[in-house]
Amino acid sequence: MKASTLAISFFLLAFISCTKHPGFLADFDNTNDRVWVGKNFWSVPLEDWKVENGKLHCTGSVPRSRVNLLTQVLQPGDGNFKASVKISLTQKGDVPGSAGLLLGLYDEEDPDVRAACYFGKGINAGVSLQGFAFLKDERAELPENFDFSEVTLTVFGNNHQLKMKVADKNGIGPEELSCNVEGIRGLIAVANNMVLGDNKKPGNSHFSFDNLALSGSKVAKQPENAFGPVLWAMHTLSKNTVKLMALLPPVGEQDNQEVSLQLNKNGKWETVATEQIEPQSRTAVFKLNNWDSTADANYRVEYIEKGKDGTATPDYFEGTIKKDPVDRPLKLGGLTCQFHFGFPYTPLVQNLTKLAPDILYFSGDQIYEGNGGYPIKRSPVDASILSYLGKYYMFGWAFGDLMRNVPTICTPDDHDVFHGNLWGESGIPKPGGAGSSDTRGFIQSVEMVNVVNRTQCGQLPDPYDPTPIEQEMSVWYTDVNYGRISFAIISDRVYKTGPEAVSDWEGRHDHMKEPRKDLSFLDKPGVEMIGERQTKFLNDWITDWKNTDMKVLLSQTVFANVATHHGALEGYLYGDLDSGGWPKAGRDKLIRLMRKGAVLNINGDQHLPSLVQYGLENYRDGGWSFCTPAIATMYLRWFLPDELGTPVVERPEHGYPNTGMYQDAFGNKNFVYAIGNPGKNTVDRESRYNHAQIRSSGFGMITFDQTERTILMDAWRFKADVENPNPVRDQFPGWPLKISQFDNLGFGANNMLPEITINKPNQLIQIRDEKTGKLEQIYRIKGNSVQPKLYDAGIFKITIGENGNQKEISGVKSREEKNSKKISVEF
Ligand SMILES: [Fe+2]
Repeated sequence: MKASTLAISFFLLAFISCTKHPGFLADFDNTNDRVWVGKNFWSVPLEDWKVENGKLHCTGSVPRSRVNLLTQVLQPGDGNFKASVKISLTQKGDVPGSAGLLLGLYDEEDPDVRAACYFGKGINAGVSLQGFAFLKDERAELPENFDFSEVTLTVFGNNHQLKMKVADKNGIGPEELSCNVEGIRGLIAVANNMVLGDNKKPGNSHFSFDNLALSGSKVAKQPENAFGPVLWAMHTLSKNTVKLMALLPPVGEQDNQEVSLQLNKNGKWETVATEQIEPQSRTAVFKLNNWDSTADANYRVEYIEKGKDGTATPDYFEGTIKKDPVDRPLKLGGLTCQFHFGFPYTPLVQNLTKLAPDILYFSGDQIYEGNGGYPIKRSPVDASILSYLGKYYMFGWAFGDLMRNVPTICTPDDHDVFHGNLWGESGIPKPGGAGSSDTRGFIQSVEMVNVVNRTQCGQLPDPYDPTPIEQEMSVWYTDVNYGRISFAIISDRVYKTGPEAVSDWEGRHDHMKEPRKDLSFLDKPGVEMIGERQTKFLNDWITDWKNTDMKVLLSQTVFANVATHHGALEGYLYGDLDSGGWPKAGRDKLIRLMRKGAVLNINGDQHLPSLVQYGLENYRDGGWSFCTPAIATMYLRWFLPDELGTPVVERPEHGYPNTGMYQDAFGNKNFVYAIGNPGKNTVDRESRYNHAQIRSSGFGMITFDQTERTILMDAWRFKADVENPNPVRDQFPGWPLKISQFDNLGFGANNMLPEITINKPNQLIQIRDEKTGKLEQIYRIKGNSVQPKLYDAGIFKITIGENGNQKEISGVKSREEKNSKKISVEF
C-alpha cells in the first residue's frame, strides 16, 4: 500500500514537471470550415470528419473513426506525458456510442506513422453514452447527472501507468481511472464510437472535439510527419512539355483556392504559373510548354494556407523535373494493385527507391474499396468523391516521395471507380445499377469518374482527342515520349463491350465455365476491345517515331487469359471475360497493330505476374507482354496448367512448372514464358508484409537499352533484397528476362525482303504494301543493315529515313524463306 502511494506521488511529481513544457495545442479556432483537418492530422475516414466553427466534428458512423495527430509522437523511452481533449456530444445516435482518445497507436510491422494511422491499435480512453468512462480495460460509472455537452478528458501517463480524469462542464465526473501498461509509444488520436471489446455495437452517435493538447518529456515533435497541404505532385515530361499536377486535400470554401508552381532559377524561386484548385478533384494542373528537356530543374508547389484571422502560412512540396534521359538506358518501374494490408508498402518502396527508376507506371487499382479499413460511400456524389479521395490519398502518401522526382504515368482501372470488374462501353451508366457486377456500364456518377480520371491522369500529356465520351465522361488516352521510348497509354476497360452481349450460359455473364466447339458467338459484330477512337489513336501513334528508338503499349491488363484459378485454389475458371483474352477479334487487331512496330506491352491488374509472348496464327508470332506483380495482392489468381494435366509444350529452358504454350479459353495462343504463382500457403496473420510476400506481391522493373535495343524485365518480390539478390528468393521464377526489341516483331515470319544496307545508322524503316498502302512494319533499324521478314507475301514500298530526309524503294518483292537480293541506300 505504501509502495503504491509512493509510486503515485512520483507519478504526479513527474506530471507536474512535464507541464512546464508548452507542448502542443490544437483549438481549430483559426481553421476555416473544411473537411481536411490540417497538416498535423490525418482523419480516417477522410469524409467523416470536418472542422466547423473552430471544432473538429465527426459526422460519420464508421466504428473507431479517428483523427490521428501526426507531428507529436510518444517516444518509446522513459518520460511522461499529458494528453487532454474537450468532447461534446453533437448528435445522439440510436445506438449510444463513445468518444475519447486512442493512445499509443503503433504498428508492430512498420514503425512508420503512416502505418500507425491505419494499423496502430492503441489504448482506448474515453466516455461512453452507456454511462461509463473507460481506460484500457478499466471502467468507472459516470454520475447520473453527467452532462455530455462538454466533457474534459485528461490522461497522464508514462511507460508503466496511465491515469485518466474526466469532468463535465460542471466539474462532475467519475472516479479517477488508472491502468498499468508495458511501455507506450506511437501516435495519439481522437476517436468517435470506439470499439470497446465488449461485443456491444460501437454506436452511431456524433461528437465534436476541441482543445486537443499533448505535452511532456515523452512527446517528440516530428514536423516531418506532416501531410499536406500539398499532399503530393505528379508530373510527366514529353516532347518538351511538362505537365505537373498538385494534389490538395479538401480545403474549405473560405480557404485559399490558388496554387503556384515555382522553379528555381539561379538559386531563386520564381513563380511560373498560378492555378485555381479544381473544386471536385482538389487538384491544380500546370502545363509548361517549350521546356528545356536537357537540364534538371528544381520545382516547388506553393500553397499559402490562410487562417481565419488572415495569417498566411506558406507550404511547399519540392521536387526535381529531371532532364530527359535520352543518353542512357531508361528504367521503368511497373506497379499495379495496392490493397491496404501492405500499406505503406515500406519494403517495396525502399526497393523501388534503391533501383532508381527513371519513370513509373501505375497501371490501375490505386485503391481498393476496402482500403483504409472502412467501406466506400457510393452516394451522394460529393460523399463518393471524398470517399474515393481518402483512399486515393493513401497511394500518394505511400509513393509521393518517389513521385516528387520521377515522372509518373498513372491510369485508373476498375477498382479506382468502385468496380470489381468494368466493361465501360464508352462511358454508359450501368443499366442494372450497383447490384449487377457482371455487366456493362459505370455504377458511379460521371462526376465521380471524372474526378478519378483527373486525379490519376491530370499530369499526363493532353489526351489524343479530348472529346468526352458518354455522359460527358473525360478521356485520357495519350502518349508519352521519354528517354527515346514512346509509350502509348490506353484503357482496355472504358470502351470494352459487356459480357452479356455474348454470354448465353447460366450464371455470371463473365464466367465461361466450359469449352465450346464454335467460339464465333464470342465475337459478334460490334463487340469492342479498345474501341474505335483508341484504335485510330494507335494507328497514328505507331507511325510516329520522332525521337523514338522503341515503342511500348501501356494497358491495364494482359491481352490473354493466363489464370486458371481465381480467388482460391478451389476456384477453377475456364474462361474469364474480364481478362484481356476476350474479345479475341479486338485483341487480335491490337496484337497485330503492336507487332508492326515491335511494341512491348506492359500491364498489371491480374495479381499474377506473367511474361507472355502473344500469338496470332501461330504461337510466338506476336510481341511480348509483361504483367507486373501487384504491389499488395488482395484477390489471388493462379495459372496451374500442370496441375490440370494440360500437356507440356515448348517448356522454356528454365524448366519452371506451368510454362510453355497454352491456348486459352478464347482461342488465344499464349507462350507463357514465366509465371509468378502464389504458393499454397497464402495467409500470414502475424506479419502484413510477409502476407504480401507470399501472395505474389511485388513490382516490375523494365530497363530499355536504346543502344543495344534490348529490354530487360525484372519481377521483384515485395520483400526482395534488390542489392544482393538471390534469383530464387528475390525475383519470381523465370525472371529476369532480356529480350531484343525486335523479338516483339514475333517469330516465324518467312516472307523475306532483300537485305538493306544504309550508309547512315539507326534509320527509320517503313514497309507498306505497294498497292494498298497497308503498313506492314515500322521501326528504327539498329545499325546499318536489316533484312525484314514479313508475315504477308507481296510487293512492297520501303521508306528509309524520316523528317523529309527519306529514300523510297518501290516494287520490292518478298520471297519465301530466302532472299539473296541486296539493296543499298545512300543518304
Ligand atoms: Fe487489381
